[in-house]
Amino acid sequence: MQNFIFHNPVKIYFGKGQAAHVADEAAAVRGPVLLVYGGGSIKRNGAYDDVMAALRRAGSTVVELPGVTPNPRLDKVVEGVRLVREHGVGLILAVGGGSAIDCAKFIALGAGIGEDEDLWDDYVETGRPAPEGLVPLGVVLTTAATGSEMGDAAVLTNPERNRKLGYVSFPLTPRFSVLDPSYLLTLPDEQTTYGFVDMFCHTCEQYLSLPDDDNLSDEMAEAIQRHILRSWRACRRDPRDYEARSNAMWDSTLALNRVISRGKDEDWVTHGIEHAISAYFDIPHGAGLAIVHPHWMRYVYDASPEATARFARWAVNVWGVDATGKSARVLAQEGIERYVDFLRRVGAPLTLAEAGVPSDPATLDALADHAGEAGGSYRRITRDDARAILASCV
Ligand code: NZQ
Ligand code: ZN
Repeated sequence: MQNFIFHNPVKIYFGKGQAAHVADEAAAVRGPVLLVYGGGSIKRNGAYDDVMAALRRAGSTVVELPGVTPNPRLDKVVEGVRLVREHGVGLILAVGGGSAIDCAKFIALGAGIGEDEDLWDDYVETGRPAPEGLVPLGVVLTTAATGSEMGDAAVLTNPERNRKLGYVSFPLTPRFSVLDPSYLLTLPDEQTTYGFVDMFCHTCEQYLSLPDDDNLSDEMAEAIQRHILRSWRACRRDPRDYEARSNAMWDSTLALNRVISRGKDEDWVTHGIEHAISAYFDIPHGAGLAIVHPHWMRYVYDASPEATARFARWAVNVWGVDATGKSARVLAQEGIERYVDFLRRVGAPLTLAEAGVPSDPATLDALADHAGEAGGSYRRITRDDARAILASCV
């Protein structure tokens, strides 16, 4: 196993009514609370009322920043940074999905850097580590998707430059996250699907990578993937099923809290290409992943005997493909096709056209330029490989 450091200090409050703990957390800091949220779904699923009640009990002053868009944008972060400085905010509280959380993370970062530094150019573009001592961040989660609630990553769009970039730095890690599955009961079917695609893809991007030595991380990844598929089916059967929603919420958090990537290379090429698509066309993250992920798989599974063996293992252990008398290559192909069938059945888009994304040569070039040298583990993906993968997505 490769060497690693594991440090995940996020305190999780899981279950019905757990937003009440926001009162204790808010009482432990000095200064007002900046409430960061999106377009208003939190006012229909109970999260806003629960949080406001808790903050009243704590005696906190609340400053609100509504209007965070899906694929959150730099201008909203700038607005938030101004509020933090103006009010001397002591806690930034994101209430919503990955977009509200990531916006809040960047607000904390933007408020913590020097006045002569530029958040986008000096940090997001370069990946320079965030300074310590940022305004603490709390989360009340309302989607089961990104894992941002228990991680140090955040993703931001700069629409003026058609850039959407991930940024990873430990100080962005939330201090606590409330995971109350009741808030998921109002999720539209589409968002439920996108969330499942996202968490499933996250587990794959850690699992479908070198090294292939015996590693508990891989076995845990398979278990999480099987469980995601079970929760996914259960949520489709009954979107109001609290038990199914609880499983979805914990699945998504465990899919990206760094446990299953320990000892692994990881391979985030699919995410790199997806971010290029949503940078230009602002489509939901999960929709872009559903389009790219199987095409990336078809491009990579036979890159080496190790790659084929890993995809074959995935087909058997996650998709239940019967291995009798089949070569690793055939098993790998069957696993990928099972995945595509599943995505089709749940109504995820499978081509750029289905998501309304054009695929003329100039667009594909621009998207490939954004994806750049996209990384990779079993197969290194260059800018031209990324373009070839995109060209197969039309
Ligand atoms: O804006 P509101 O009104 O809140 O509506 C949202 C939004 O329209 C709605 N919604 C959220 N919770 C709801 C709900 N509607 C009804 N009931 C609820 N309980 O859903 C829409 C999408 O919300 P969003 O927060 O954008 O979804 P998600 O959690 O999927 O986050 C996606 C963002 O996270 C980034 C993505 O790129 C994208 O920008 N990611 C962040 C990662 C990270 N920080 O580690 C990793 C991921 O790979 C991902 O890239
Ligand atoms: Zn993702």
